[in-house]
This record gives sequence, C-alpha cells and structure tokens, in this order.
Amino acid sequence: MTGIEPRPVPRALVGSVIDASTALLAEQSHDVVRFAMGAPGEDLIPVADLDAAFARAGTGRYDYGETEGDTKLRREILRLTEEQGRRTSDERILVTTGGMQGLDLAFKLSVDAGDLVIVEAPTYTNGNATALSYGAEVIAAPVDADGMIVEMLPELVERAGRPPAAIYTIPNFQNPSGVTLSRARRELLLELAERWGAVIIDDDPYGQLRFSGEDVPGLGDIAPDHPLVFQVRTFSKTVAPGLRTGWIDVEPRLRALAVNAKQAMDTCTSVPVQRAVADYLESGAQRAHLERLRPIYRERKEAMQAALARHLGDRVEFTDPDGGFFLWATLRGEYAGIDTEQMFAEAVRRGVAYIPGPAFTVDGSMRDAFRLCFATSSPARIEEGVSRLAGTLEAQLEPAR
Ligand SMILES: Cc1ncc(COP(=O)(O)O)c(C=O)c1O
Repeated sequence: MTGIEPRPVPRALVGSVIDASTALLAEQSHDVVRFAMGAPGEDLIPVADLDAAFARAGTGRYDYGETEGDTKLRREILRLTEEQGRRTSDERILVTTGGMQGLDLAFKLSVDAGDLVIVEAPTYTNGNATALSYGAEVIAAPVDADGMIVEMLPELVERAGRPPAAIYTIPNFQNPSGVTLSRARRELLLELAERWGAVIIDDDPYGQLRFSGEDVPGLGDIAPDHPLVFQVRTFSKTVAPGLRTGWIDVEPRLRALAVNAKQAMDTCTSVPVQRAVADYLESGAQRAHLERLRPIYRERKEAMQAALARHLGDRVEFTDPDGGFFLWATLRGEYAGIDTEQMFAEAVRRGVAYIPGPAFTVDGSMRDAFRLCFATSSPARIEEGVSRLAGTLEAQLEPAR
C-alpha cells in the first residue's frame, strides 16, 4: 500500500532506552562489559533449582490459569511476605507478568489522560514511560541521599496548579540512583498523598537485597491496608528476570479492579512459569539464595566504587547504596561537560555499556550522569569495564586538547 499512513497513536509511547539496550547489545559480536541492564549475572540465577522446578511442574500446566494467579504461588507469596514480618492477605495479591505489568495496572487504575503524576528525578525509565502511555502529565521531584525530597512536593504541586493523581516512588535502593527513602519522608509522603487523594505507586523490586545498613519500614508497614498505597513487586531481581513473574499487593477493592484489567490484557500470567516459581519457592531454596546474593552484591558494589575511584578519581562522584543493583555516577571537573548519551556509542565500541543519565529524566536533563549496574559482573569484569569507561571518557577530551 502506498500513500496510506498508520493512524496516529493518541498517547505518548516513548519506549525504553534500557530495554532497547538488550537488543543493541545482542547485536554486538565483540566483548562488551554489561553495566547497562539491571539484571543479575547468569552465575547468580538459581538455574539448576529452576530447571528442576520446571521439570516438576505437574498436570494442568498447559491449561488457562486463574487471573488472580496460581493458588500455590499466591500461597508462597503470602508465606514470603509473612517471613519478612509484613502483613498481607490472599485477597490483596494478584500475580502479574513481571513488575512491569504491576506498574501498568497501577497507572491504568489511577491515571486519566491529562492527570498530574509525580516521579523521582532521576526515575526508572519504564515507570515514566508507563505514566506517559496513559496520557499523564509527568513532573519530577529531585532525590538526595534520603530518597525523593518529599518536602518539595507541596511547592511542585502549587506550581502545577492541581494535585497529583499518583506519586511514583522506588523507595529502596532506587533505580537508578541506589538511594533509600528515609522513614520520616515515607511518613510525610503518606500524609501528603492523603491530603491530595493521590495513589502512591510503591515499586520495590530490590527491597530484599539489602547488604548494609538498617531496614526502613515499608509504606505498607507504616500504613497497613492503606487504600492509596499500590505495592508493585517482582521476582525478577531476587530469582530471575526471564521468568517475567511478579505481583501486586493492594487493597481488595483495587485488586478486584486490577483482576478485571488483567483479564483485558493477558488473561493470566504464564501457567508453567507460575507453577515452576511456586515449586521453587516451596522447596525453601529462596532463603539460602538471598543469603548468598547479599554479600556478593556488596562485594560487587565495593569493587565498582574502588575501580571508579582508582580510574577516575575526583572526575566522578557516585552514590553509596546499601543494597540493590545500581550506582549513579555524575561527571565532575574536566569531565563535567561530557554528554553521556553522545558518548554511549563510543563506549560500546570500546567494550562497555551503561545507561546514559537522560534516559532517567522527564526532560532529557542529567546529561553528565549515568547509571551503572554492578550486579551483573564479577569484580574482575567490573575492573575491566570501568577501565574501558575511563578510556572512553579520556578520549572525549582529546579533540579539545
Ligand atoms: C524499579 C523497577 N521497577 C520495575 C521493574 C520491572 O520489573 P520486571 O522486570 O519484573 O518487569 C524494574 C526492572 O528493572 C525496576 O528496576
């Protein structure tokens, strides 16, 4: 057909620089150290246990499943939540196709086209993209070492001239900055959300991966059964991302609506995968797995910080997370003017991948910053990758010299 255009799409569908990096890196035939995707290394995925669980997955596994989620998996999610000292109940849980579907449901249920949504600056690219896909007007609140600067929200809201429909936060070991929202700010966030009737989308894939410091109570622990707290959870970081299995934990009336919405999306999450995840969790292997992961991630974070300090000195500043997968680095001194987005292709050519700062902003700012995932690579690979990164940065200055 010629001369016929596809119909214009009525909402902003901006895609994800992070997810696109998976395909981009798969095309590379040379060795690239992967600091880009937020994924556990293959060595940190319980492959043998999962393979055994898939082999055990039982009869009926190729049938349609309940939209709410496989009964045994829901039971295991309840058990895990209780083990962490948190309260929940079966009528609050809906199994989702990864954390992303949880985010999609959260924005679908709380945002109409034109509504105001507050995100963090920087924020998780895909959360922002999901808000935009429902026609939200997104504004950003900066983060500091204690997470989102919640004290600034009233001023932002006043400037916007209307209250937000939703506030999107990643409270623990934030993606991309690695910082954690303090208890005082969690309490203030709840207070403000109540004042505005705004949904708090509490996206916490990394909370179980604390390797230093003290736990901070979750929003759902400070305010149990709160109808405005929409908790999005996933097994992607604590078991394996390819399972595409997560859940939401929300007030039962919201859960009923989320079930309806999911029925209009994908009917149910993959049954064989849910069965295998349930079997794997039932075997009890997950507790030992998490205990194994925490010191390894700590070692990897420290290896990355040491390599950054050694290779880049005071030309880079970076955060110091107590858990999770990410460091946020900002260029300083003679490197401060370097554009990390423009530098990206050269970095990949030299064998190292990261995610440029602007991918995490609503306005394309933070061009002198980037996110590094320390979770995927061994300390030796981290050293190699940071050395390649230092070489790439140095080469950016050459034309100016
Ligand atoms: C903050 C945050 N939310 C949600 C997700 C998506 O999780 P999933 O891969 O389970 O869809 C991620 C994955 O990187 C994430 O970092």
